[in-house]
Amino acid sequence: MRRPVIAGNWKMYKTIPEALEFVRQFKPLVVSVTRCEIIIAPPFTALKQVADRLEGTNVQVASQDVAAEPGPGAFTGEVSATMIKDAGARWAIIGHSERRQLYCETDDSVNAKIRAALGADLNPIVCVGERLEDRDQGRAQMVVDAQITAGMHNLTASEASRIILAYEPVWAIGTGRTATPEIAQEMHWFIRSRLKGMFGEGVSENTRILYGGSAKPENVEGLLNQPDIDGGLVGGGSLDPEIFAKVVHIRESR
Ligand code: PGA
Repeated sequence: MRRPVIAGNWKMYKTIPEALEFVRQFKPLVVSVTRCEIIIAPPFTALKQVADRLEGTNVQVASQDVAAEPGPGAFTGEVSATMIKDAGARWAIIGHSERRQLYCETDDSVNAKIRAALGADLNPIVCVGERLEDRDQGRAQMVVDAQITAGMHNLTASEASRIILAYEPVWAIGTGRTATPEIAQEMHWFIRSRLKGMFGEGVSENTRILYGGSAKPENVEGLLNQPDIDGGLVGGGSLDPEIFAKVVHIRESR
């Protein structure tokens, strides 16, 4: 059985006091949650303090990115997997579509970042997803296939088994437009079948695949009920402790 995961991606939101206030309010709201894994990805500046406040709780911490170079070294502005681990995070989001679109990330850099993370015992949450024009032109599966094939190139099955995948159709991120449960399920099933081809049945059956893109308490239930959707990666809906806790409880009580 795959353990469900609800992860929150705060993007470039929250100062340290704002992040700690979120944690203060959020912890008691999810204290009873046992089945669903909960992960929060604060900005780098708040990572350490958020991780400290969440130590020993059922809420884990992720970074929103990681350097492709293992380091240490002369890479101005980069934060290594070892440093992220040191700050108290167990996970790193890699290949988010905003990084691909705005900061020129490629499948090759995603692959390097996955390796850097795994090398420092940091678990990757790898994002894939097609743009609207890809979907309109009937190329959605082809695009996602290419992202997985190149992004997870040359990993062993045991390395691949440490990854969480997030399917985030670019046209659904921050747009208020969610994929229908049917569209999302179809892609999640496709991703699972590709994992089977690349890494075998065990990895395919055990990998958690999250849906992301305008997920909120009002629309997430149908998505989380799909057989191949193991949870959510929530952006805007993770900034408010009560709203994010609602999403967690919807999955928890399923
Ligand atoms: P959104 O973002 O929920 O605000 O659409 C999701 C994401 O980018 O991970």
